[in-house]
Amino acid sequence: MTTSASCPVAHDFDPLDDAFLTDPFPRLAELRSEGPVVYHPDYDLYFLTRYDDIEQVLLDRDTFAAANASSPVFPPCPAAVKVLSAVKRVPTLTNADPPRHAPMRRAVQNNLTPKRLTALEPIMRAQSRRMIEAFKDSPTADLVSQLAFPLPAYAGFTLLGFPEDDWEMLKAWCSKRILMTYGRLPEEDQVAVAENVVAFWKYCEEHVAHREAEPGNDFTTDLLAWRAEHPDEVSFNDAVSIVYSIALAGHDSTTNLFTNGLRYLLANQDAWKAIVADPSLIPNAVEEMLRFDPPILGWRRITTTETEVGGVTLPKGAQLFMTFASAHRDADKFPEPDTFDISRDNARSHLSFGKGVHLCIGAPLARLEMRVTLENLIELTPNLKLVDEQAFAIVPNLVFRQMEELLVETGA
Ligand code: HEM
Repeated sequence: MTTSASCPVAHDFDPLDDAFLTDPFPRLAELRSEGPVVYHPDYDLYFLTRYDDIEQVLLDRDTFAAANASSPVFPPCPAAVKVLSAVKRVPTLTNADPPRHAPMRRAVQNNLTPKRLTALEPIMRAQSRRMIEAFKDSPTADLVSQLAFPLPAYAGFTLLGFPEDDWEMLKAWCSKRILMTYGRLPEEDQVAVAENVVAFWKYCEEHVAHREAEPGNDFTTDLLAWRAEHPDEVSFNDAVSIVYSIALAGHDSTTNLFTNGLRYLLANQDAWKAIVADPSLIPNAVEEMLRFDPPILGWRRITTTETEVGGVTLPKGAQLFMTFASAHRDADKFPEPDTFDISRDNARSHLSFGKGVHLCIGAPLARLEMRVTLENLIELTPNLKLVDEQAFAIVPNLVFRQMEELLVETGA
């Protein structure tokens, strides 16, 4: 018979604290040494700290459901809830469990094809080139506002077939959304963000209806053709929900891959110079960027029954936070984990895209966007450097490692 250990309680640690957000790694190392599971009463979350345990959770969907994955960390205020009730949102992929998840995932997987991505590559390459050309002759630039924030959104919008004239409006609607879901947004701002969520949803609804009447050459059109063949699997509302979630899924996460990754690549000028000299190093460098300071600090699951993780008993209904950023610094998995090493053998074993049945479907697109952008950057701005003494401030939220700005000297 195994005996289960008790779980330490974190009293002195606030994941929304500025010091933690700016550099979470020393505190995460302490949490890992305190135990595999640390309970945080203020958030009612069990933080999982070690690679093997997080992998176990990701691979066991029966015991660890995804229903809470995208729920607000703090409940929105009643006025915002009232605004949000205008749309009938349904669980979509990330927060769907059986039996809903499989048909929705099939619908996305069968239509987000390598052929579609191949068609997107030259468009992304040209788009990122235009953005880099716009700042390359100025002495300094902010890589967040001038590249990393707009580019991934445009990739998603192109994929879905949203008209280019609408992109600025759509991007503006996304402002502060992650603060509402994963942070503490003041009540006075919540209604405006909720109105934007509703506007975005209604826009997706109209886009899907429009594509039903007038097919184009995009993912939405393919999805609707699939729906026509599988009407019992994907309803009209499911199609809207898929379009809505794809439109949002790739934004903040890919933005963070760009900014966090470039932060460390440029801070390690030997690594940067190595890829300038040899672009074939880029794909593994992208994996190390995803490992070292992941775009997403961690992701949630909820237990469906009493169970054990890392020798600790967890009750049914326990909300788990799978701290990817901690798993990626677990020395049992990654030797010398605090070293940024673009030639690391197992860099690709990171969990940034999850693992198992919910593995991120957009991972090939995110990797493609980062690769073509790095190829453009090393060609157009080979002398890129970080501006010294900058804050690297992170937008205060529990999940997305989103930088406010990333200042660089272009070498112009
Ligand atoms: C660096 C960029 C990205 C990161 C770090 C990221 C990360 C993640 C993570 C952690 C999950 C949840 C995995 C789980 O629950 O086990 C996920 C799911 C998902 N992602 Fe991404 N993602 C990125 C880019 C994208 C892009 C560009 C798209 C769309 C084009 C996308 C679409 C999705 C979808 C549809 C799911 C749900 C899959 C499912 O639940 O079956 N992601 N992603």
